Amino acid sequence: MKRLFIFLGAAAITALTPCNINAQRSNATLKTAFKDTFYIGTAMSLPQIYGKDRKSVEIIKKQFSSIVAENCMKSMFLQPEEDKFFFDDADKFVAFGEKNNMFIIGHTLIWHSQLPKWFFTEKDGRDVSPEVLMQRMKNHITTVVSRYKGRVKGWDVVNEAIMEDGSYRKSKFYEILGEDFIPLAFQYAHEADPDAELYYNDYNEWYPGKVATVIKMVKDIKARGIRIDGVGMQAHVGMDTPSVSEYETAISAYAQSGVKVNITELDISALPSPWGTSANVSDKIAYDEKMNPYKKGLPADVQAGWEKRYEDFFRLFLKHKNSIRRVTLWGVTDSQSWKNDFPIKGRTDYPLLFDRQYRTKPVVGKIIQLTKEK
Ligand code: XIL
Repeated sequence: MKRLFIFLGAAAITALTPCNINAQRSNATLKTAFKDTFYIGTAMSLPQIYGKDRKSVEIIKKQFSSIVAENCMKSMFLQPEEDKFFFDDADKFVAFGEKNNMFIIGHTLIWHSQLPKWFFTEKDGRDVSPEVLMQRMKNHITTVVSRYKGRVKGWDVVNEAIMEDGSYRKSKFYEILGEDFIPLAFQYAHEADPDAELYYNDYNEWYPGKVATVIKMVKDIKARGIRIDGVGMQAHVGMDTPSVSEYETAISAYAQSGVKVNITELDISALPSPWGTSANVSDKIAYDEKMNPYKKGLPADVQAGWEKRYEDFFRLFLKHKNSIRRVTLWGVTDSQSWKNDFPIKGRTDYPLLFDRQYRTKPVVGKIIQLTKEK
């Protein structure tokens, strides 16, 4: 008993020391800092979903309030052959989110990339008819959305259908069904889970031409009486492009069109970009030493510029918090990031908030500090 008192007494003294107050401060997490602002999320890889990357999982539970699967809910994984669905990975992902009380996002139902080959073709190799494609879309969307009804809270229904100049991407969806494939996808998703939030998601969604077409599409979907809740801006951004003001103009325009904005795949590459900020996953560029300059870490000036870029974007998101539903990072640590291999394979990039040793980068504290500024 006496020993217990001594122990409790020591604990009480420790609780009052300035050192401990500092420790508590540095224990502030993104999740708590953004509690009343918007969801703060991350994409999860398979090793994280299966708990093999234990250190990342600890970070996810501590820091994030929302999750999205980085790959395993894309159509090539969910329905590799017609009517043969594979749900093991996605089930595990959703169970993780439920267990940890997270706002779970489904990514993505209709996308021209990471899509199984059979989707657009008949057995004899010809393109399917519009009727068959509608049926396949409906079957895919209905099966997937119903399985997670009430559990996945928001879906990226259509991904990357509009080009920077505002024209429609000439995907097979578009070639076979025209612009209608988009409202149809939203309609099927809504029928499968009337309570789920539904989003249109894309990269480079700050290009004025793209903004104009996406807004027209949002209005058209609404005018048909079909649900659309948000526009997802992927936010794979670089050190210089886009400017914060270009981004702000786009956020304001989407918000004014009557939908929420999700920042869905945030990462800020510290590396030179061969072309700007495209995130078209099929574009690849040959490796070149000059394009991989920071293999051993970022020089101080680049590091400072990179941190400022993150702060500038989060300041912007906070300014527009009433229009923003969620900000999701595209991964946890730099070693997980797809940017190490995109658009040039084999580089060392530093785009995320946790480093290769699972340490919290100093910028996280700065972002948290921004939430306290009035
Ligand atoms: C990326 C994943 O991060 C990679 O692991 C995968 O090899 C390719 O796709 N836009 C999207 C995301 O909507 O699904 C992409 O994710 C990145 C660009």
